[in-house]
Amino acid sequence: MSRNILVGVGGGIAAYKTCEIVRGLTRSGARVRVAPTPAALRFVGAPTWEALSHAPVETDVFARVDEVLHVELGQWADLILIAPATADLLSRSAAGRADDLLTASLLASRAPVLAAPAMHTAMWENPATAANIQTLRDRGWEFLGPVSGALTGADSGMGRMFDPESIVERALATGRPQDLRGRRIVVTAGGTHEDIDPVRFIGNRSSGRQGIAVAEAARDRGAEVTLIAAHVDAPLPAGVHLVQALSAERLQRSVHEACVGADALVMVAAVCDYRPTRPGAHKLKKHDLGETTSLELTVTPDILAGLTASAERPPVVVGFAAETASGAALERLGTGKRRAKGCDLLVANDVTDGVFGTDENHALLLAADAPPLELHGHKREVADGLLDAVTALLERQSTSTQKEPLS
Ligand code: CTP
Repeated sequence: MSRNILVGVGGGIAAYKTCEIVRGLTRSGARVRVAPTPAALRFVGAPTWEALSHAPVETDVFARVDEVLHVELGQWADLILIAPATADLLSRSAAGRADDLLTASLLASRAPVLAAPAMHTAMWENPATAANIQTLRDRGWEFLGPVSGALTGADSGMGRMFDPESIVERALATGRPQDLRGRRIVVTAGGTHEDIDPVRFIGNRSSGRQGIAVAEAARDRGAEVTLIAAHVDAPLPAGVHLVQALSAERLQRSVHEACVGADALVMVAAVCDYRPTRPGAHKLKKHDLGETTSLELTVTPDILAGLTASAERPPVVVGFAAETASGAALERLGTGKRRAKGCDLLVANDVTDGVFGTDENHALLLAADAPPLELHGHKREVADGLLDAVTALLERQSTSTQKEPLS
């Protein structure tokens, strides 16, 4: 489920950090529209917000009256995030004013509001601001920060905006069902590299984005997440336990360690099937190798199959398979792999058209006792579709355990 997030930007210097927030939200698959106040545009211009959100940006309550934008925007949003929430913006919101597009949208919306205040300490501590915050809190607004630290001037104190990465994390979790709260989920992501020598390696095209999306989605649904990352070319998420495992051998060890006591393993990593048998301690030289050469490879352990047959097997195990096949052939290959590797679920995707390094995916979710389910869209949507199935399996297992008679 992709989210519609309206980002309201107040006129404070922290607006420059909100650019990173908008980027983080869109990267995670959210649809974002930005409503800056006129004062915010004095810090960061409309073209920047338009480029980052991929959507037109207006600030005036009279903009696009034919589309009734001042109502449409608030109704479109299923979350309103205000960052930075300045003293003036909080005051106008508390008074229920509608003198720009953002405040009008706030009035016209029933969406939850998350606000990250940023202002000078004196303004923050002023009883007027404190009363406005209390009013808004009573109306259900949720506040993140501010925190203490260096301010715009020479002084420092309470009033800095909450860290942008954590704002993204909280925004993505707000209003989501916390159906994985209390669960421990292990996710692997990215491609392993197997050394040929200190300079060269064997690798694959995995970017790690799908695995990262699964880790973020599980985190946002309340799970405690361990993300075991091989080589990835996407930003790693905040709010998860990160373990780096760059080779198949390291990944295998990390997976077994992390799975002790876990509820589920989602094995998205692309593990190299072979590694050079004798990696060179020094750089291999062309003049020593000659015109043609060959490299002896040794098969790497099948981490997933080994794990499902071990004592560390979590109650739910999910495999992934990138195949150059579609339709019935993809289903057949995926089902065979699911059984062979002892997984409860397997996500099979057709990589013929190249999904590596992109934000989109289309895949078949294969289960033992359900017909194949198509998952497509942003990798985050695919992740949420998969986690729906994981959650259902975990719930089913807890109910059947509860019903088991005591022996
Ligand atoms: N996998 C693993 N260890 C390996 C290879 C793969 O744990 N040495 C896992 C992957 O993380 C993935 C699943 O097995 O979840 C399927 O990976 P894939 O590469 O499609 O399977 P292979 O068994 O390597 O089959 P193929 O011959 O198609 O590469």
